Amino acid sequence: MPALAVKSLYKIFGNRADEAMRRLADGAPRAEALAGLSATAAVIDANFEVRPGEIFVVMGLSGSGKSTLIRMLNGLLQPTKGSVRVDGVEVTTLKPAALRKLRREKISMVFQHFALMPHRTVLENAGYALEVAGLSKAERRERAMDALRMVGLTEWADKLPHHLSGGMQQRVGLARALAAGTDILLMDEAFSALDPLIRREIQDQLLELQAELGKTIIFITHDLNEAMRLGDRIAVMRDGRIVQIGTAEEILTDPANDYVAQFVADVDRTRILTASSVMEKAQTVLDVNVGPRVAARALRENQTPVVYVTGSRKQFLGTVTEDEVLRAFREGRQSLEGYVSTEQVRTVTADTAVADLFAECAESVHPVAVLDETGRLSGVIPRITLLAALASTAPDGSPRDGAEPETDGPGNDGAPADGAAPNDLRPIVRKEEPV
Ligand SMILES: Nc1ncnc2c1ncn2[C@@H]1O[C@H](COP(=O)(O)OP(=O)(O)OP(=O)(O)O)[C@@H](O)[C@H]1O
Ligand SMILES: [Mg+2]
Repeated sequence: MPALAVKSLYKIFGNRADEAMRRLADGAPRAEALAGLSATAAVIDANFEVRPGEIFVVMGLSGSGKSTLIRMLNGLLQPTKGSVRVDGVEVTTLKPAALRKLRREKISMVFQHFALMPHRTVLENAGYALEVAGLSKAERRERAMDALRMVGLTEWADKLPHHLSGGMQQRVGLARALAAGTDILLMDEAFSALDPLIRREIQDQLLELQAELGKTIIFITHDLNEAMRLGDRIAVMRDGRIVQIGTAEEILTDPANDYVAQFVADVDRTRILTASSVMEKAQTVLDVNVGPRVAARALRENQTPVVYVTGSRKQFLGTVTEDEVLRAFREGRQSLEGYVSTEQVRTVTADTAVADLFAECAESVHPVAVLDETGRLSGVIPRITLLAALASTAPDGSPRDGAEPETDGPGNDGAPADGAAPNDLRPIVRKEEPV
């Protein structure tokens, strides 16, 4: 079950909401649809689900409807229409008391300008939600101290807020939400008021905490780089509508429309894109148990100088060159065993950032081998492919054309790839083996 599910959610401010929704229903842009009505469509037909433990980022320019959306998630705002479910419970029909309970026990919120109470200590501020919830002083202290430890502020517990820098104050805000112990955190531009270096630090801290705590986080930002750093998935909003939902990589490589393409035009792609999105099929992949005669034929037919060799569980072993195949043949061998080298090819994992591939490609005699987490060969990256991929994802926003990222699993098992490019030479021969 998703931690949070939003369905056909609308928020229209002003009069004649029904008329406004009717006009918006067919997808008309909001300015056009609402001309002549004294209504603002802040959120139009939002649909998404957030998985437990996910950081779901909502990104968009000022006025695109982000805050309105997030405030409907915990019932701070009543939607004009639609459904919000938290752990399967419909939020939009909850009575005030049930809503308060929901906010106490399930969903906490961290705001951009986190108002700490100036005459209370950092500890008291961090434990404030617990005080409201009626916990004893000792319990409050323990949980608030725990939360302060998580954000690295233990030593500041007894200080007053004005002793803290802006970044630290924001961490107290985060601590307050953590102390509440809810599974879901809503963060509305929580880091936006911080200067860039502090902001990066606190982003790192959030990611570290997240790795430990596995909260479900809805994070709002208008900063693309922040969105890409933090988000497992990102929803892009424009004029009240969600125009795309996807991973950073999906949004970069396959923007849903020109608007998103322009939005992401300035992103440093080499940091977001990974080996898996630029690799291609290895041309000649053979099992180590095939004989040199078979290898020679595969090399000739594929017109490549090197065989990528895999072992019995399809794990990548290394490469064998033409010369070595010839030597094995002359020495009368029945397999490639003993001729496989790991010297001439570098290996990377599929999630290696493109930025980190340059050095590997430069040092690898043959195309770099991309391995999955079990060490099987997923694909290769010839130098020229790396350069071409960069060129075609140049920040003009145009999606990459041509080479599909390989998704059909490791091993290049020779299954015909539909629509493969003519130069996609798959292994012609390989030993049959159980999968
Ligand atoms: N209480 C309100 N009454 C009327 N209109 C509102 C209200 N709150 C928001 N709006 C309008 O709804 C639209 C979306 O506003 P919202 O605050 O959700 O945007 P946002 O994406 O959070 O923007 P920002 O990045 O500036 O915080 C805007 O046009 C805004 O003027
Ligand atoms: Mg806002």
